[in-house]
Amino acid sequence: MSYKQPDKHGHFDKFGGKYVPETLIPAINELEKIYTEARDDASFQNELSSLLKHYSGRPTPLFFAHRISQELGFNVYLKREDLNHTGAHKINNALGQILLAKKMGKNRIIAETGAGMHGVATATVAAQFGLKCVVYMGEEDIHRQKLNVFRMNLLGAEVRTVSSGSKTLKDATNEAIRDWVTNVEDTYYLIGSVVGPHPYPMIVRDFQSVIGREAKEQFANRQQLMDNGHKLPSVLIACVGGGSNAIGLFHSFLDDDVRLVGVEAAGHGLETDKHAATMTKGEFGVLHGSASYLLQTEEGQIILPYSISAGLDYPGVGPEHSYLKSIGRVEYVSATDDEAIDSFQWISKNEGILPALESSHAIAYLKQRDNNIQADANVIVCLSGRGDKDVHLVADYLDKKI
Ligand SMILES: Cc1ncc(COP(=O)(O)O)c(C=O)c1O
Repeated sequence: MSYKQPDKHGHFDKFGGKYVPETLIPAINELEKIYTEARDDASFQNELSSLLKHYSGRPTPLFFAHRISQELGFNVYLKREDLNHTGAHKINNALGQILLAKKMGKNRIIAETGAGMHGVATATVAAQFGLKCVVYMGEEDIHRQKLNVFRMNLLGAEVRTVSSGSKTLKDATNEAIRDWVTNVEDTYYLIGSVVGPHPYPMIVRDFQSVIGREAKEQFANRQQLMDNGHKLPSVLIACVGGGSNAIGLFHSFLDDDVRLVGVEAAGHGLETDKHAATMTKGEFGVLHGSASYLLQTEEGQIILPYSISAGLDYPGVGPEHSYLKSIGRVEYVSATDDEAIDSFQWISKNEGILPALESSHAIAYLKQRDNNIQADANVIVCLSGRGDKDVHLVADYLDKKI
């Protein structure tokens, strides 16, 4: 099955597009123009590469997790996005977009955040470039991710509490869009995942694709050293909230003979109404500016998603993922809260790495009985972020006092 780029209106077949109010059309058209120039501009790309290297610490390692590999009977490599500056993959995109904001002459940055990692990344780059920054965050997420709220404040950002709806990422995104419509003249909306109207899903994907480009080269180099002829991994696994770390890892491999697996949050279980498994349980619809699979009622009302992990707790998913599901190129599966907590502890104890709860969902797939991973397979898992922000949640879940 051949893979496609979005068409000029930002559609991947029926998914994607620009479903925004009239007032935002000039801003997203300008963004598309500036981005298209920047993509082919060597000085823009050099500035971004330099920031990724010297500010964020890229390339991130591809680490062979030998203890869990031994236990599982296949080879697991962890792409260590948790080792980026600020502790997650979100900074790859934030650095790229802040350069676009600068090119567009905007002096105010807004963002939405769920787990707070994108908020922290945005507050960080805004501080680095001397720009004003406002981050919208749901009340429930503010409670779950207190540490990140304080980090954003320390970085000079204003965190605005959103108390409508489920008080999570969906509602924070609604508020950020409202702010953008009102202040579009001087404000740049720095979207944190491969969602929203075109050109955002394409821009965020391109900035996150550094994950897969590096992983491909690192894997091939390792295999060459071992001289065993396997230049490509067998399976790639990543968690899917909006889908940016997953598409970032998968993108360089879409035309290769490599199995790709996205793991969503099954919360309390797919048979309950408490999950965030958009791909498994969702239907076609429009949310936050683009068409994708969505958790919705028969009447088209959004169903409030649930996951223990704030970064996966979103009722939609990127349009490119929706397309990749529709053509059968990527498999979408899910892991429950229980499985994620179990994996959090398993990787901590066996590899000495505390993973984010989001990433713990991807890791959980390694242990699922029906995962169809062959003995001796080479598997790369995107360890999208570090788990410090989740330690108190894990303690509560395990009924432990910190
Ligand atoms: C560490 C981490 N991983 C994954 C995600 C999910 O986002 P995405 O699907 O865009 O990678 C988040 C979102 O906040 C996150 O903080």
